[in-house]
Amino acid sequence: MTQHPQMTGRPVISSTGLFTPDESITNEELVASFNEYVRRHNAANADAIAAGEMEPLAESSVEFIEKASGIKARHVMAKAPVLDPDIMAPRWPQRSNEEVSILAEIGVKAARQALERAGRDPADVDAVLCAASNMERPYPAMAIEIQKELGIDGFGFDMNVACSSATFGIQTAADYIRAGNAKSVLVVSPEITSGHLNWRDRDSHFIFGDVATAVLVEDAAIAPAQHWDILGTKLKTVFSNNIRNNFGFLNRAYPEDAGGPDKLFVQEGRKVFKEVVPMVAQMICEEAERLDIDPKALRRMWLHQANTGMNRLIAHKVLGHEANEDESPTVLDTYGNTSSAGSIIAFHLHSDDLAAGDPGLICSFGAGYSAGTVFVRKVG
Ligand code: COA
Repeated sequence: MTQHPQMTGRPVISSTGLFTPDESITNEELVASFNEYVRRHNAANADAIAAGEMEPLAESSVEFIEKASGIKARHVMAKAPVLDPDIMAPRWPQRSNEEVSILAEIGVKAARQALERAGRDPADVDAVLCAASNMERPYPAMAIEIQKELGIDGFGFDMNVACSSATFGIQTAADYIRAGNAKSVLVVSPEITSGHLNWRDRDSHFIFGDVATAVLVEDAAIAPAQHWDILGTKLKTVFSNNIRNNFGFLNRAYPEDAGGPDKLFVQEGRKVFKEVVPMVAQMICEEAERLDIDPKALRRMWLHQANTGMNRLIAHKVLGHEANEDESPTVLDTYGNTSSAGSIIAFHLHSDDLAAGDPGLICSFGAGYSAGTVFVRKVG
């Protein structure tokens, strides 16, 4: 690793990478499995339900899922156990300490693609941030394992700001470059969200999907000719219990409560929708004003991918008109909500066609609440 103590830099995005799991679950497959689970559960508890001691579970519906969220399918790391009504959770063989862990493995795949696209030798990367909603273990940090797998001589650490982890990671990387502490930083977001999703919960079983993304943030002085200037970054957090997951290492202190449904993702979806949309739209407009950018002139917005309705409203408030797919592309129809990776997938898949000089916005929002904006401009 090269130390750059005195030289401040100007941060840019040199490249991005994406790993998409091979397997995908359609809404039809998901609902068939869920409804089979409901039928079995209600049959097994028929007496208690008939006696009025238990409410029967209600079936899910493909139409509801697509209308309420815009999601049609999601990629997963393990399809068969998720769809098995007796399991309804991801399963794969446990790996030994000598094998690469699964979260690091998919992060490395996305990171390698980002490095290749920038023509960057891993030996010239200074730091790895693993920025994601769920870490596989508390330590050693996932980022340090990813660093080792890539052969990077520098430092790495994990950071978790739920759905906003990637934008918080980009600002952190940009700050290292602004301060002169690094010239090349990988922000890796492996999101195996199938592990924190309660596949038996009708209100949320359709929401999430698995993926990994990587963003290479570098000093403009070493960046490839084609890159994205980072015009400004802004982060915001406001505490809310409306999206919460109580899983954690202290759960073993309360054994009677160690595996309850709140140890997985839970949310008050309606409240999230109502509270987060205005917060994010206002944040984007204020930050655009600070950066002297006309928000209506943004060529494209790569928004967090949780719900098409939320994105439609946010984009409308910012652009002043109904955004089309070209202005605010959707990837959640085939990826589902991939937590912090969502806006990065949208940017990765839908940015090559922009012209030099075009301004755009990467924006995340989610649990915390948390929100992050990264205004960019294409160069080269
Ligand atoms: N199948 C069929 N019907 C369902 C259902 C399902 N899977 N899940 C819920 N319903 C029913 C409810 O029972 C309710 O019925 P009722 O009106 O008779 O009471 C109705 O559909 C509406 O439910 P509700 O939960 O209010 O739906 P919604 O329109 O708010 O959509 C979300 C749910 C989760 C898609 C939506 O609230 C959302 O996306 N919110 C933002 C979430 C977000 O961004 N979270 C961030 C996570 S990182």
